[in-house]
Amino acid sequence: MEDSLLKSLPWIPADDPAENYHAAAKLSPWVSESFSGPYAFELANDPEALAGFGVPSSIVDSAERHPLVPATEPTPVGTVLRDRHSATGFGPSQVDFGQLSRILLDTACTSPAGRRGAPSAGALYPLDVYLFVCGVRGLASGIYSLDPFAAELNRLRIGKDPRTFLSETLLFQDLAESSAFHVFFIASFARQRIKYGQRSYRFTLLEAGHLAQAMIMSAQESGIASCPVGGFIDQEVDDLLCLDGVEQSVVYSVAFGTARRRDAA
Ligand SMILES: Cc1cc2nc3c(=O)[nH]c(=O)nc-3n(C[C@H](O)[C@H](O)[C@H](O)COP(=O)(O)O)c2cc1C
Repeated sequence: MEDSLLKSLPWIPADDPAENYHAAAKLSPWVSESFSGPYAFELANDPEALAGFGVPSSIVDSAERHPLVPATEPTPVGTVLRDRHSATGFGPSQVDFGQLSRILLDTACTSPAGRRGAPSAGALYPLDVYLFVCGVRGLASGIYSLDPFAAELNRLRIGKDPRTFLSETLLFQDLAESSAFHVFFIASFARQRIKYGQRSYRFTLLEAGHLAQAMIMSAQESGIASCPVGGFIDQEVDDLLCLDGVEQSVVYSVAFGTARRRDAA
């Protein structure tokens, strides 16, 4: 490598906390520690403990309470938010390519003004979007990457059947077997590391949440059901997409499909 290029790359020590944490938080078929914390089983079977979770510690006794008084009726965005819920499986119908396009254009692609539907620290956009398409009318089943500038999907020359791959890789089989398409968010950590150092790892994960939420909301508005999925075998995704799992790695995913009749809002 040329000297000038070496100088411009961030220096990453061998024992790097962000890289170590990323490795420690991966799921694998062999190591379950990162998936189930030591108290997971007890917790899942203790209704009293479960009821206590999800209660914010910011709720305090106060002599001065102010019930919220909205200035307006729910806005269109507010209605989408209030109706949002995660699907546990999907219906048999396909999603249209037009519906898929709407979601990607509104969230991950650049607008004519150069903006995107989710914010990025330093406008460095460390996340790339890959789609595993299984049931989209007007788009062949396959594995695609998104070009956010050209607003195009590029079909990758990967021989693996996307449905088979999802079934092997996701821990939640109803979602794997019935989704119309599944989005994986792939981080190129160095893109933000250059500017934000260790803090960039936090930013990259936060941005995956922003982008996923934007897609979930856009989908909900078009009547498409979704579920965020953190339960996947990291290395299988990384290997299939030829990522080294350190500089580039999968961080998050969302399954999309048509609503099952019993789940429809
Ligand atoms: C980071 C994250 C990871 C999640 N991973 C999974 C998952 O792997 N499988 C799944 O079925 N649901 C997953 N969920 C969905 C949650 O189970 C769901 O949001 C929660 O039960 C609350 O339900 P709601 O989204 O309908 O309000 C995940 C949610 C988040 C935020």
